[in-house]
Amino acid sequence: MSESAPATSRVLVTGGAGFIGSHTVVELLEAGFEVCVVDDFSNASPKVIGRIVEIVGETRASHLHFHEVDICDEAALSRVFDEERPEAVIHFAGFKAVGESVAKPLAYYSNNLGGTLTLCRVMEAHDVRAIVFSSSSTVYGDPDEVPLTEASPKKNATNPYGWTKWMIEQILSDLWVADDRWDVVLLRYFNPIGAHPSGLIGEDPKGIPNNLVPYVAQVAVGRRDAVHVYGNDYPTPDGTGIRDYIHVVDLAKGHVAALEWMAGRRGVEIFNLGTGRGSSVLEVIDAYAAASGREIPYVIDPRRPGDIARNWADASKAERELGWRAAYDLADMCRDSWHWQSMNPEGYEA
Ligand code: UD1
Repeated sequence: MSESAPATSRVLVTGGAGFIGSHTVVELLEAGFEVCVVDDFSNASPKVIGRIVEIVGETRASHLHFHEVDICDEAALSRVFDEERPEAVIHFAGFKAVGESVAKPLAYYSNNLGGTLTLCRVMEAHDVRAIVFSSSSTVYGDPDEVPLTEASPKKNATNPYGWTKWMIEQILSDLWVADDRWDVVLLRYFNPIGAHPSGLIGEDPKGIPNNLVPYVAQVAVGRRDAVHVYGNDYPTPDGTGIRDYIHVVDLAKGHVAALEWMAGRRGVEIFNLGTGRGSSVLEVIDAYAAASGREIPYVIDPRRPGDIARNWADASKAERELGWRAAYDLADMCRDSWHWQSMNPEGYEA
């Protein structure tokens, strides 16, 4: 928590009711920011708002404003900017299911790219040119070597979701080329998991979870029978895929650090947000079993198309420049995920 008022004080957060967005809103409020959330609740629950208030308390929550608006609605978004006068934007809003993006490319390109273009037009019209974008390590594709640094090459995405992250990075970089008053930070997340330690907010996927940890959590709580491990024949020590899992609270704090670092700067800067440590699928299952005290049955399935063997971050640039580093380890992530899952076995809508 910072002692003095931050240099940028009013920040607008698109997609602030989602998994990473809601955790970031909590950290922003605790750091003393005025926070305006724009979310259409297309993949988030309105109950998140009450939970955020519960975590931060009424006083800090008086600095939080919610607008139920789709960022593709230019007139409505413009009215929010008129009213809130933000100085910077953190942009999370977007569709994020990899498999669905393959089936519905038009929906993904029009929502993710269209929403970003509309947002940037409204920002320019309101003389706001500071943006933090929620990007992904997916832009590195199948890496030639690990750990990945920000200078590692961007490679082809394997699905429309990944391409939207890739393209939005390019669009925001081009804005700065055209007008050097833009201040763009691209945060490339590795694999965010865990939940707020209060157990009040967490990840609440609709339908069958696509990602590993939400699936493991639902097996632990008894909603599903067994984890499907996608391949044990990768060139890794135990044959299963290795990823750099990062606690969502660490990730959220990375956004606060980025905003504080940006204030008054211009340019485009990229930061990896990861722990710098990789864990295999079987290590995650073991850690979750230990954290929950539950047995986690699993079966070995074939590889999932588009998956890579391994990726993890070199996060030293964020440490050097932003003064940020991940504090939580895999055991903490599993403990907090389990706390959220066991307090909310059916997610927000129970
Ligand atoms: C996935 C997306 C990535 C996106 C990220 C968002 C794919 C191919 N990639 O990353 O573009 O940015 O989510 O968080 O979907 N696994 C299982 N069983 C499961 C689920 C996953 O064994 O039920 C394995 C995977 O093979 C992988 C690891 O667990 O080795 C992590 O998978 P996941 O949580 O889906 O994340 P990524 O694939 O890394």
